[in-house]
Amino acid sequence: MGGEVRRPPQDETQPALDGGRLWGGRFTAGPDEAAWALGVSTHVDRYLWRQDLDGSRAHARELTRIGVLDDAELATLLAAIDRVAELFAADTFPWSPTDEDVHGAIERWLVEQLGALGGKLRAGRSRNDQIASDLRLWCREACDDLVVRVGALQSAFVTQAETHLDWHAPGYTHLQRGQPVLLSHHLLAYVWMLERDAGRLRDARSRLDSSTLGSGALAGQTLGLDPERYARELGFARVCENSIDAVASRDFALEVLSACAILAVTLSRLGEEIVLWATAEFGVARVGDAFSTGSSIMPQKRNPDTAELVRGKAGRVIGDLVALLTTVKALPLAYDRDLQEDKEPVFDAVRTLQVVLPAITGTVASLEFDRDRLRAAAVGDYALATDLAEELVVRGLPFREAHELVGQVVRYAEQLGVDLDGLDPEQLAALHPSLDAEVARRFDAQEAIDRRDGVNGTATAAVRAQLARARRVAATNAGHRPPSGVDNSPVA
Ligand code: ARG
Repeated sequence: MGGEVRRPPQDETQPALDGGRLWGGRFTAGPDEAAWALGVSTHVDRYLWRQDLDGSRAHARELTRIGVLDDAELATLLAAIDRVAELFAADTFPWSPTDEDVHGAIERWLVEQLGALGGKLRAGRSRNDQIASDLRLWCREACDDLVVRVGALQSAFVTQAETHLDWHAPGYTHLQRGQPVLLSHHLLAYVWMLERDAGRLRDARSRLDSSTLGSGALAGQTLGLDPERYARELGFARVCENSIDAVASRDFALEVLSACAILAVTLSRLGEEIVLWATAEFGVARVGDAFSTGSSIMPQKRNPDTAELVRGKAGRVIGDLVALLTTVKALPLAYDRDLQEDKEPVFDAVRTLQVVLPAITGTVASLEFDRDRLRAAAVGDYALATDLAEELVVRGLPFREAHELVGQVVRYAEQLGVDLDGLDPEQLAALHPSLDAEVARRFDAQEAIDRRDGVNGTATAAVRAQLARARRVAATNAGHRPPSGVDNSPVA
């Protein structure tokens, strides 16, 4: 290759700090510029500043407890850490081109301000246990935040279901009309899908709620730092049992990403349905103006862009999950630098959903349904045929025969170009003696709906009870607070 070896970015004002890097001592030359550019992660991990500073406060207290810092030094360090927090909060932290990551940048600043004292904070701590701790704290907040946003979407469905409780709608399989349902029953299906999504986020959160500080680079540390105290200080439910596992594992981030990807897929199915409902062909719902867009060339257009974008975003969230699975899959224990790639997909997936969820919540709340078209569609395409067959079963026919017979009835009606209720009783009776005048009762959508009165069925009374349960889970999620009572300010 040859060519000139480029110098790494050097900060001439800080020669004693080797340009601010955390690891220059055993090298005679600094890193190549291209190698440095590859390794720098401040553009990503800067968003962990709050978690990193929380960890540093806990660490400073532990160092004081074991006698590495005295009380005056602790007070000075804590005040300096508070100042760093102010700088980050105001977006005025003075980054240096020599900062490799957020941990190094904060240490550099502390050394600039406090001299040797700033350099004491690293004792017994490695960036390996530090980054694992930071990301767990970030993910914990992210899960809490997403659960609340899922709750808001569930609430929008509950409100729509309540408003349209007794409206009829077609129920589908294979996207072909199957049986009539209540529109509210269809809408409430999403509440339960979302409830499992929220449950996955809660599960991921509870499993990742383990502290890593005190693990050092991989084997623990010699100074007597107490992992349990870090856990308590940072509000973790427990300590990672094994220091190697603590620094090597990212399955916690994979669980968060899996929960995000499945949630994104739930929302994508919803987006697809809204797009279909809003077509002229379905024509059963209208998306509110605020969640629709026009066309730059076709003046008449009204496009359900928000629903389409929600559908489209699922691709990138799935991609985030696949990216991290692929990064982790062949990594030997313990820490490998590849793991630095963990943050971007996690941040991207969570932030994507933080934008998607409020947008789709507003879209759902804005939907205006067309009662007449829904009512007509509910019984179209012989959607009451199952009811007729089941009535024949009640009269003693084996279902196999009843199915065959009703199939003939449908074929006959189709030939005449009428619906089932358009057949006259004599025509029916001529097909089979069981098809007497009584069966005409079966040709009513409301009856068909209310006969399905199992606890999870579409009968009006059952849906009313379901609605009460749905309202409760939506309210619980919408009012979700972190179980440990830790700070749950919005994820930066
Ligand atoms: N920036 C690194 C990461 O995100 C921090 C840990 C670096 N550890 C190390 N031994 N180089 O994973």
